[in-house]
Amino acid sequence: MKSSVRIVEVGPRDGLQNEKATIATADKIELIDRLSATGLRSIEATSFVSPKWVPQLADAAEVFGGIHRMAGVRYPVLVPNEQGYERARAVGVEEIAVFTAASEAFNRKNINASIDESLERFAPVMERARADNVAVRGYVSTVLGCPYQGEVPLADVVRVARALHDMGCYEVSLGDTIGVGTPGKARAMLLAVASEVPIAALAVHFHDTYGQALANVLACLEEGVAVVDAAVSGTGGCPYAKGASGNVATEDVVYMLHGLGVETGIDLAKLADTGRWLASKLGRETGSKVGKALATT
Ligand code: HMG
Ligand code: MG
Repeated sequence: MKSSVRIVEVGPRDGLQNEKATIATADKIELIDRLSATGLRSIEATSFVSPKWVPQLADAAEVFGGIHRMAGVRYPVLVPNEQGYERARAVGVEEIAVFTAASEAFNRKNINASIDESLERFAPVMERARADNVAVRGYVSTVLGCPYQGEVPLADVVRVARALHDMGCYEVSLGDTIGVGTPGKARAMLLAVASEVPIAALAVHFHDTYGQALANVLACLEEGVAVVDAAVSGTGGCPYAKGASGNVATEDVVYMLHGLGVETGIDLAKLADTGRWLASKLGRETGSKVGKALATT
């Protein structure tokens, strides 16, 4: 296992995109500012996708323009096409994430394109990002199962991850979008991808539908992955993935890592406070077990 791990906090984006009630722009900004003060080094701030498809994040420009960007913290945003790239750059975004899937059926529902069409759509975005010195992360969804197609062949996951890496994504995040994976399958999937993409360029992204996310993270850490996506308070889910639930909670991942002696640079108490603050804004209890436990100690 690596001695230090970078967490990519996806709460402000994945965490909020599926919330039914509209969240105030000021609260989204406060969430990111609070997260910036915890020692996190990567915070996915929002999405410049079509507001018709994800109305909750229609205020992406206001959110990004309103946050206090801290030195040493990266604030990637989701971008599906050139239009999203232009909107993001207009407010000073310096890192983006493009996203596609290993399953054709899911990709159609999520971004209205086949896998190959989506990769073609990213080509001009990658070109502009290279010219503008904008870093690009890539996501592969449905790496351990698809709500529409069912099983997803490992070869499809490997092909798409490799295509994203080959086109210039500095990191490829492997997403168990609907949280159906188990540790043995997560490990096998990671190793299959790592045979074609350097493991240093891979991240893992687990949703916790079946309560397996933390175990899946551990299995991948044991294989040497050093970047883990997580959402504070365990929020999250994709509106176009039937049955998707929250991400693994960042507090739970950080508690586990610190317990293993792995360094994250994150102040767990501050992070847990932020998780409980977010839960109160969403009108519910924190979805992090660690967040709950720390509140009573
Ligand atoms: P489309 O309808 O096929 O595209 O959507 P279009 O080009 O025909 O555009 C339709 C309308 O949207 C047009 O407006 C465009 O201008 C507008 P109209 O002429 O009708 O008024 N539009 C945009 N507006 C603002 N920003 C843009 C943009 N693009 C088009 N960037 C599209 C295709 C990709 C745009 C759409 O399907 C979309 O936005 N999908 C995003 C869905 C999404 O955000 N899903 C959740 C994120 S992925 C995820 O959660 C998984 C992940 O967490 C990993 C994991 O867990 O596996 C990353
Ligand atoms: Mg996700």
